[in-house]
Amino acid sequence: MIYQLGDFRFPDDPARLYPQTPERPWVLEVGFGDGHFWPHYARTFAQAPNYLGVELSGVSLLKAHRRLKDAGLENAILTKLPADVLVREVVPPRSLHEIVVNFPDPWPKAGHTDHRLLRAPFFRLAASRLRAGGAVLLTTDHDEYFEFACAEAEASGVMRVDQAQPPAAALETKYARKWRDLGLSAHHARFVPTAHPEVPGRAFTPYPENETDVPHAILTLPAAFAPTDFAKRTARAPARGPEWTVVLLDLFASLRRDGWVVQAHVVEEGLTQEVLIGVTGREDGTHLVRLARFGGPIITPGVKAAVGVVTGWLEEEGAQVTHRGY
Ligand SMILES: C[S@@+](CC[C@H](N)C(=O)[O-])C[C@H]1O[C@@H](n2cnc3c(N)ncnc32)[C@H](O)[C@@H]1O
Repeated sequence: MIYQLGDFRFPDDPARLYPQTPERPWVLEVGFGDGHFWPHYARTFAQAPNYLGVELSGVSLLKAHRRLKDAGLENAILTKLPADVLVREVVPPRSLHEIVVNFPDPWPKAGHTDHRLLRAPFFRLAASRLRAGGAVLLTTDHDEYFEFACAEAEASGVMRVDQAQPPAAALETKYARKWRDLGLSAHHARFVPTAHPEVPGRAFTPYPENETDVPHAILTLPAAFAPTDFAKRTARAPARGPEWTVVLLDLFASLRRDGWVVQAHVVEEGLTQEVLIGVTGREDGTHLVRLARFGGPIITPGVKAAVGVVTGWLEEEGAQVTHRGY
């Protein structure tokens, strides 16, 4: 099954995600590529563990989804997200049995190591989400990244590095076969938590069922308001807060209602969302500025701020705000 960020809870519950098999171990695979690993690995268990796969590539997501479906692996969830966002916001503490990382992007150029996944902060996060006896399993052909990951695990202060043989399934992935054909061998390590630090998620919530909980504002626009100035507003520097950046990208007249729709780009650590914010006329002559459900946005501090940025722009245009709900 493919999940969007908005389909999850923050944090989620394995019993909700896998209602048919809530008692089975839970394995996360980061960067599953075209999905070769899981069908092989799942077969090594008497019953396929519950599987959560995370990838950045949409094409890979679809290929892997087909492969898992053909293999009859029902208790598997795939999602297109950055791994650290998924682990921090969705996975509850001490719930995963394994986090598998096969042939991660090595980011070999000098100055690019910040892009690597397996750095000390990720190891602390992983240690907080793994159960006792769990582990991060790394298989890679890349000598330098392997040493880097081992050093980062030790620097995290919460992981022991065990050298081990890779699971046979890790040597059947697309990249494993690619490097094997070039005559390269693979390194493998098990990173075992020695402590389970607390690494809290941020204040993420799904789009509320109750309309009044959706970030919004009510205001009175000046007489004969026409948003001709929007281009000037978007050309200005983005609005920035301590943990977010909001850029207002475009404004569309609504064909369905009296009003407009603003398209905004919201960037927060590790997560980017494009959201729509409606500015809609109400019967009493006021206007409602409200985050639209379209696209399944997650309510984050940045998304609330985006509603505030649109409201602020309208205030600059002369609107009188009578209520702020963001
Ligand atoms: C070199 S490929 C390996 C794919 C697969 N594991 C294999 O062995 O064939 C690395 C994969 O990790 C994915 N990836 C990179 N960074 C990621 C992240 N932060 N979260 C999720 N996936 C990521 C990339 O999109 C890419 O598909």
